[in-house]
Amino acid sequence: MTTRTTCRIAVLPGDGIGVEVIAEAEKVLWAVGERFGHRFVMERALVGGAAMDATGEPLPETTLALCKAADAVLFGAVGDPRYDDPQAAVRPEQALLGLRKELGLFANLRPVWVHPALAAASPLRPELVQGTDLIVVRELTGGIYFGQPRVEGRRRAVDTMTYTCGEVERIAHVAFRMARQRRRKVTSVDKANVLACSRLWRSVVAEVARGYPDVQLEHMLVDAAAMHLLRRPRDFDVVLTENMFGDILSDETSVLAGSMGMLPSASLGTGPSASPGEGRFGLYEPVHGSAPDIAGQGIANPLAAILSAALLLRYSLGLEAEAQAVEAAVSRVLDAGHRTPDIAAPGQATVSTQQMGALVVEALVGR
Ligand code: IPM
Ligand code: MG
Repeated sequence: MTTRTTCRIAVLPGDGIGVEVIAEAEKVLWAVGERFGHRFVMERALVGGAAMDATGEPLPETTLALCKAADAVLFGAVGDPRYDDPQAAVRPEQALLGLRKELGLFANLRPVWVHPALAAASPLRPELVQGTDLIVVRELTGGIYFGQPRVEGRRRAVDTMTYTCGEVERIAHVAFRMARQRRRKVTSVDKANVLACSRLWRSVVAEVARGYPDVQLEHMLVDAAAMHLLRRPRDFDVVLTENMFGDILSDETSVLAGSMGMLPSASLGTGPSASPGEGRFGLYEPVHGSAPDIAGQGIANPLAAILSAALLLRYSLGLEAEAQAVEAAVSRVLDAGHRTPDIAAPGQATVSTQQMGALVVEALVGR
């Protein structure tokens, strides 16, 4: 077999179930390398609470340097109850925010696709969620997450939300370009009836939309969006929104897919490449967090991490066929009825984290 591509992937498992699910995603990447003849150089580094244990810092300089030298980053999760004290100056989550900012990853893509076999796993009625296929495009390096927090004594605290025209423009372009590869509809979510940032957001998005006359644009207030995403999810194609609204709405949309354990994400420093075959640096992580309550038990669903690895192949390595092969393998495993506990029907048999990973590898390399 000839080696066609050599890729450097920084692997940051982090905390809690991040460690378990990333191990399975790594196995899937090895299997892709074997089947398609690529060489993936995967180097691990510490991040989050695991890095604090070893170095005192959530994002050590060596970890950041490894990420900067890589073609892509595969990230697990950060967060550890031992470091949960809200008064603490150093917290595991700062690693993720630091990586996003340092690596300039302003575009967060969170696709939500309801696998037909999982429609019944959602707490919503299956006929309502069946056929849902949307993507949340979340601005990731601005807004209230990166304001100037201030604590004034013990009785007052201040967070600030800022957006510039340039920040809104570049994420809007990502959303419109994404819509062109899909059903050509963008729903821009804001709170323009209250927030100045949202009024700026709305007018800049409307302006950018003029360059995409073939894409339909609608504006929606975030409270209404929270409702309509659950009432009529099929009407959404690309959901474009700012940092904090995107954080909240993307957890909400996981309910449609049956479980947080199914949702992958990609964080890019540019939009996805327009030319197939050309990669762009990015960070890939399951949307679920470290889930300390189920960590170490082998019951976490590795599919979100595995599907994140598929996005890594697609967006950072430009390997579309390989990405589709992973997604097809996941579908086949679900079609065959294999379930981790989070997506199992009551009384249905379940597989462990490792068994699920092995099943996907088998489906991938199976003849
Ligand atoms: C997410 C997470 C993060 C966020 C946390 C861990 C900082 O909830 O990626 O959605 O709020 O962005
Ligand atoms: Mg979140």
